[in-house]
Amino acid sequence: MNTIRRTIAENLAHGNSFAPSGTHFTLSAVAPLTGKVALVTGGSEGIGYGCTHTLLSKDIEALYVLSRHSDTADGANTAIRKELGDEAARRVRWIRCDLADWAQTAKVARDIAKDAGRLDILINNAGRGIMSRQLANGVDMHMATNHFGHVVLTSHLLPLMKHTAEGRNVVRIVNAASNVHEQAPKDVRWESLEELNREYSPNQLYGRSKLAAILYTKYLSRHLREKYPRILVNATHPGIVDTRQSYEHILDGYPLGGYAMVYAPFKKDQFEGAVSAMYAATRAERSGEYICSPAIVEKGSDMANDEELGERLMKLTRDVVREKMGASLDGYRVFSHALNTVNKIRTGATKPPAAVRLSLYGLYKQSMEGDVAGIMERPVGDDEGSRQAREKWDAWSSQAGLSRTEAKRRYITTLISTMTRYAAHSPDARELVAELEFVWDQVKSNVPSSPSPSPGSSPILPLTGPPPAYTPPQPMLSGRRDDSGRRDDSGRRDEEEEDEFVDAPDSQAAQEAPHPESRGSDGAPESSKLTRRKSNASDGRWRRRVEDALVRMTAEVAALREQLESARVLGSVRFRVVRWVGGVLGAVVRHVAVDLLVLLLFWGWVRRRGGGRVKDAVRVLLGDRIAVKRVGDL
Ligand SMILES: NC(=O)c1ccc[n+]([C@@H]2O[C@H](COP(=O)([O-])OP(=O)(O)OC[C@H]3O[C@@H](n4cnc5c(N)ncnc54)[C@H](OP(=O)(O)O)[C@@H]3O)[C@@H](O)[C@H]2O)c1
Repeated sequence: MNTIRRTIAENLAHGNSFAPSGTHFTLSAVAPLTGKVALVTGGSEGIGYGCTHTLLSKDIEALYVLSRHSDTADGANTAIRKELGDEAARRVRWIRCDLADWAQTAKVARDIAKDAGRLDILINNAGRGIMSRQLANGVDMHMATNHFGHVVLTSHLLPLMKHTAEGRNVVRIVNAASNVHEQAPKDVRWESLEELNREYSPNQLYGRSKLAAILYTKYLSRHLREKYPRILVNATHPGIVDTRQSYEHILDGYPLGGYAMVYAPFKKDQFEGAVSAMYAATRAERSGEYICSPAIVEKGSDMANDEELGERLMKLTRDVVREKMGASLDGYRVFSHALNTVNKIRTGATKPPAAVRLSLYGLYKQSMEGDVAGIMERPVGDDEGSRQAREKWDAWSSQAGLSRTEAKRRYITTLISTMTRYAAHSPDARELVAELEFVWDQVKSNVPSSPSPSPGSSPILPLTGPPPAYTPPQPMLSGRRDDSGRRDDSGRRDEEEEDEFVDAPDSQAAQEAPHPESRGSDGAPESSKLTRRKSNASDGRWRRRVEDALVRMTAEVAALREQLESARVLGSVRFRVVRWVGGVLGAVVRHVAVDLLVLLLFWGWVRRRGGGRVKDAVRVLLGDRIAVKRVGDL
């Protein structure tokens, strides 16, 4: 009986009425969060929005929200403004981030770590629902988004969270799981990429990624417990919630059967769905648990409690992320090197005109962050600073619609022509172009790209060992804090404004893609030595070769990306067609079912109440019809 009550409480709306005593929780019971900082992935819609709204209404000081689509973020922003006021909306920083793009996720996390002074709550909520199999970055997309993306994000934010916990604060990490984890395939071993990419049913694929969420929760909790007992990590199940996952994604996974879920009458709304996550994010006192709505601690499946399986999952995660990020960084490395080059040639070189510098700036921003729309408003104001900021915004905006890869390609070609024109006379510049050639040579010959990453550059940071170096925040994305911890936007100074040539300080470029430049015994970069060896070659000839090689290489990368993108578009067209066909079939099935039901009811009524008279009348009616038809046929 208790199990039935718990299942009803966990999965259906108004769970508190069924939950055993001591496991009740509501959003109004969330304590004030003044002075705290939080991050919610997928916080602009569904359950994530329920969390965003609650955190803001409980006075969270700053909130980072990550999602892919600017229109959902805009919609959420408008709703927050309307319901909670402008002041609440100003406390939110919406950042575009595709969790299936791990390089981007790592960059976003690093930016946040630099910007925020602390991080008290991390809600890893975003997710791909019960959908058919697709790959992202050569990895099953459920795992790539729901698990890998969140591991990359969390790992890069851990130093900041550890720093926060060292200040005697409780830090809480919440991983969105689901009771569908019980439907993960029974042969899951987490042994290889090949195993990750095996074909399974949509339910199994989704269930496996949710099993990973629980295993990761327990793994993190196990590894942090001793040194960081104030960092609590828990997984949650929200129940069956009326969100895009349960009325749209499910139809991709199950075009017909999914309708049962779409029209399920008992679903929770997004706020009811946020209850268990908010409990884990603000109230839970223990770590490593699987908390079902409202606040019921459940054991979960046997697999979810298998420590060895959890360790294997995380080893595989580390290996796959290193391998994949290393590979994608090969092409990226050249871009990164180009950024470094730009910064170095400033000294002693003739300064290119403002238009060229702005064009490079626009391409740089486009390649790093995509379209400006949805990221920042066009600056207003009449002072010199605003005018310059507006020029930069316009330069960025003029590249709208350009894919990141294409923007990188154009950045490199523009850079080369700029260097040729304005800096070619400088021996330094020639040397630096040769360095670009060196990097290109590495990419071309496919030298293993990632030497064992150092802890600082590892996509998955070590969880044990000495406390990681934590660099105090250098506000870059938003305002500074004063001594009381409040934000002070008055003295806001964008890092970009310091660097008028291009906003990529050396350190940033190095972080983006640590290039394999090693130093010899004399401390000089190996690449410079190579440059010196090559400096006898005819300048013009090798410069042309470098140009051609770079253009060819970047074009290849661009073509590959475009292929992948069109595959994704095709996928979404297929999804729409399948959804439409499913919709039509669903409607037909519903009509037939309703008609049958009405007929059955009528027949039952006839049998019970109508007696012989109605039956006779019906028979006569049908008989007449049949008789008329037969006569007609004759
Ligand atoms: N709904 C349920 O019944 C249910 C049940 C059990 C567990 N859950 C779990 O609860 C969590 C929230 O789900 P929900 O029902 O609220 O779903 P939802 O309404 O579809 O919201 C999912 C959010 O995730 C974001 N997202 C998806 N893919 C992303 C990616 N690659 N990168 C960044 N963000 C991405 C979406 O942002 P964009 O729109 O911008 O892509 C969206 O904001 C999920 O982890 C889900 O698996 C839900």
